[in-house]
Amino acid sequence: MTDLLLKRDEPIWRAAMPWLDVRSNDEHTLISYRLARALLRLHPDADGFVVLTALLLHDVGWKMFPEDKLAAAVGPRPKYPELQRAHELESVCIAREAMERLGFERGAIDRIIAIIDGHDTRPSALSLEDGLVKDADKLWRFTAHGVDKLCDWFETPPKETVAMLESFVLPKLVTATGRTMAQALLAERASAAWMADALERARRRPSCVRKQRDGA
Ligand SMILES: [Fe+2]
Ligand SMILES: [Fe+2]
Repeated sequence: MTDLLLKRDEPIWRAAMPWLDVRSNDEHTLISYRLARALLRLHPDADGFVVLTALLLHDVGWKMFPEDKLAAAVGPRPKYPELQRAHELESVCIAREAMERLGFERGAIDRIIAIIDGHDTRPSALSLEDGLVKDADKLWRFTAHGVDKLCDWFETPPKETVAMLESFVLPKLVTATGRTMAQALLAERASAAWMADALERARRRPSCVRKQRDGA
């Protein structure tokens, strides 16, 4: 099996990790990082160092805000929409410090910061690298972990959550590769949600056998 992290990226992950233990950002970041590596295989012309570093550091700023506000900062009806932009600015600040400490070149730092600054609020991509980070970040939402988290945060059942992903998130993906991966993940999550729903309905259906067994 391919190692989750490239050796080159381990120091960046160690710098990011202390900032990621809120709203499941550690798992989100690792899953998105691995999705970004899959996207990069199909985009060999993209700068993988810029993409993967931006990915590891893009959400480090969330930890600067009270934990009870974080789940209500995103989604269809956010209570604190201003945190979308605020967490990008905090991430920029923390990421810049971390990359300077790690001795990265100024040019690389500037390219990575340009991606982090606007990763959620800027609708269009500045470059191929920016588009791949945006897509890997959003693709996490289509995974089992992502759907579970969104169900918790938005208090919506899996079927509704998956439908929302298909209608609102899928069209926002930037690359054709990202959209194909999202469709594949969606096939699995939509089927799982449909099955869970069908089993729940069957469990509630009146049953003569169950009635006799339970002595009713
Ligand atoms: Fe973010
Ligand atoms: Fe993110």
